[in-house]
Amino acid sequence: MNWFIFFVFPVAQSYLFGCYYDYNQPLVLPEQLPVDTCTHVLLIGAVLVKNLGVTVVQHPYNGFDVLQSMRDYRVRSSNGLKFVPSLLGDDVEWKIALKDAESRRIFIAALIDFAKSQKIDGLDFDWEYPCGDYKSIYTDFIQELRTTVLGIFGKDFLLTTAVGAGKNTIDDCYEMGKLGQLLDLIHLMTYDYHSIYDKQTGYSSPIYAKSVETGEARYFNTEWSAAYLVELGVPREKILIGLEGLGHTFQLMNSTIHDFAAPVVGTGYGGGWMTFVEFCLLIKSAGSHWDDEAKVNYTFYKDQWTNVGDVRAAAEKALFVKANGYGGAFTFGLHLDDPADICQHGETFPIHRTVARYLQ
Ligand SMILES: *[C@@H]1O[C@H](CO)[C@@H](O)[C@H](O)[C@H]1NC(C)=O
Ligand SMILES: *[C@@H]1O[C@H](CO)[C@@H](O)[C@H](O)[C@H]1NC(C)=O
Repeated sequence: MNWFIFFVFPVAQSYLFGCYYDYNQPLVLPEQLPVDTCTHVLLIGAVLVKNLGVTVVQHPYNGFDVLQSMRDYRVRSSNGLKFVPSLLGDDVEWKIALKDAESRRIFIAALIDFAKSQKIDGLDFDWEYPCGDYKSIYTDFIQELRTTVLGIFGKDFLLTTAVGAGKNTIDDCYEMGKLGQLLDLIHLMTYDYHSIYDKQTGYSSPIYAKSVETGEARYFNTEWSAAYLVELGVPREKILIGLEGLGHTFQLMNSTIHDFAAPVVGTGYGGGWMTFVEFCLLIKSAGSHWDDEAKVNYTFYKDQWTNVGDVRAAAEKALFVKANGYGGAFTFGLHLDDPADICQHGETFPIHRTVARYLQ
C-alpha cells in the first residue's frame, strides 16, 4: 500500500530522500544546499525539547534565522521539498515532556503552535533513545500526536522518527510494529555498527554481513536491521536507510595487520571520527580498499585505520534500497558533504547527488 508516497509527494518521485542538516557546521551554508536533490530536509540542532515545550536555539547562532533559511530553501526547490525540523533534547527533557497524559497534552499543544508559526511540513523526533518504561510511553505520545495532527493539518503533515539500528536498541526502546503504523517514516540509523568498543577494526555502515561473521555478529549491518523492522511489522515503504558522512578511526595494534577485524588499541586520529571529505583527501595519498562483501571502502596508513561512507558505498546503498523495496534513503547529513568539490568527484555534494541519481 503506497498511499503515502502518492498523496504526500504528488510529484513523480518513487523513492524518498531525507537529508539532515546541521547549521552548526560552517562548511555548508543554507544558500549552498543543492536543490531538487532531497525530498525532505531535516534541520537538526536548532529546535530543542525543553520545559514541556520547544525552544529555538539563540546561541551560538540564531535558530529562527535558520528556520527561515530552510523555508527559503523549500521555495528554491521545484520538487516539492518538505521542511521537517528534527527535535533533539536532553534525556531528562524528553522524559518530563512525555511523562503522563497531562504533560503530553501540554507538549503536543506546544508542538502544534510551533508547527503553525514556523510553517513546517512535519516533525521528526530524534530522542536517543526512549527505552525501558518510556518504550510504550513513546508510542502513546506518537499516537496522541498523530490524532491531534490529523485533526489540525490532515494527512500531509509528516510525523517521522530516527531509530537506532542495533538489535538491543530496537528491542528495548521502540514498539516497532505500532510505530510503523502510526508514523509516516522511520529514519533507520544504519551506521555506527562498529567502533573501538569492539577492540578491532570494523565498518561503520556495512550493507551486508561478511562471510567470516557468524552468530550475533551477523546483526550488525544494514540488511539485517532493515529486515528486522519489516519482521516487526513496519511497512517496507516507510523505512528509509541511513548514510552517515562520518566514520570511526582506529589505532591498529600492529600496523602490518590491517584487514577487517584487525586488533586495535584505541581510537585513531581526528579524535576518533573522520568526515567524508577528510577521508577522500586521505585516500588520495594513502590509497583505499573496497570490501565487496560489506560494500564499503576503507583505508590504512601506518598504525591508522578508518572507514567512512563514500560515493561508491552511497551508490551501493541506493541500489540496495531499490532492490529491497524500501521507501528510500536519508543522510546525516548535508553539512558533511563536499559543497566545493574538494574531493574532485566532478560535482558539488557528490554523496547527495549520487544517492538522488541512483534512487531514480
Ligand atoms: C606484527 O605482525 C607481524 C605479522 O604477523 C609479526 O611478524 C610482528 O612480529 C608483529 N609485530 C609486533 C610488534 O607484534
Ligand atoms: C574508494 O572511494 C573513493 C572515493 O569514492 C574512490 O575514488 C576509490 O576508487 C574507492 N576505492 C576503491 C578500491 O574502490
